[in-house]
Amino acid sequence: MSIFRKKRINKSLTNAVFGRNVVHTTVCDSTNELAKRKRYMPHGTLFISDMQTAGKGRNGRVWESEKKSGIYMSLLLKPNISPDKISQITLVAGLAVCRAVGCNTMIKWPNDVVIGKRKVCGILTERVEDAVICGIGINANTKSFPQELSDKATSLYIETGEKQDRDYICALIMNEFEQLYDVFEKEGFVSLRDEYTKLCVNIGRQVSLTDSRGTINAVACGVSDDGELIVKTNEGIEIVNAGEVSVRGIYGYI
Ligand code: BTN
Repeated sequence: MSIFRKKRINKSLTNAVFGRNVVHTTVCDSTNELAKRKRYMPHGTLFISDMQTAGKGRNGRVWESEKKSGIYMSLLLKPNISPDKISQITLVAGLAVCRAVGCNTMIKWPNDVVIGKRKVCGILTERVEDAVICGIGINANTKSFPQELSDKATSLYIETGEKQDRDYICALIMNEFEQLYDVFEKEGFVSLRDEYTKLCVNIGRQVSLTDSRGTINAVACGVSDDGELIVKTNEGIEIVNAGEVSVRGIYGYI
């Protein structure tokens, strides 16, 4: 089984590094955890699994990872960038997913890929020593979601009515990610800012910002050169850092 997925990904790669080395498992706890354990492997190694028993989302949440319906992948990176820029890799990954998947995908800053008002992909970037692991989970062939999630989550299958080729999508993401990452490493997020901003679904909308001090309402008005959200509050313009604040729409999830 494993050799087939590797070969199927490989045949659609047009790049040089990302995903050229693939570790595939039928089941693992979390591809992010697997990548952490194997972080001695080369830059650009892709870890994929048919299912995860302990898929992780942001802020300690669980990422439901049932067998074969989703894409569960983590890319191992050894970045040549200053540590304060590492959180921006999440934004680069979101852009890569939108480019690769199409389907009118947009980004809910910083790291959710959405179609319309519903989330189709989540990204979790983690760092251990000199390794960065960028985990991407995509609802690919999920046929339906439980009632309580159905207005917040969607899948590529639900949106298109077509069964998705998960390996082909993985390869397309690797191709786009490598190209974007090269620009990011050489020139910084600033060179990707305009494309990101156009895809950022929050811009011009009211958002509620929650941090350790509480929640305030604001209007998102842009994305900074370093990938922070620029918002207008009653106090004036503020710059919001992804690591410190959680952002939600005031009217629903977006
Ligand atoms: C989020 O939106 O909260 C982030 C979800 C990230 C899920 C992916 S699935 C592949 C990788 N392995 C994990 O355990 N998490 C990420």
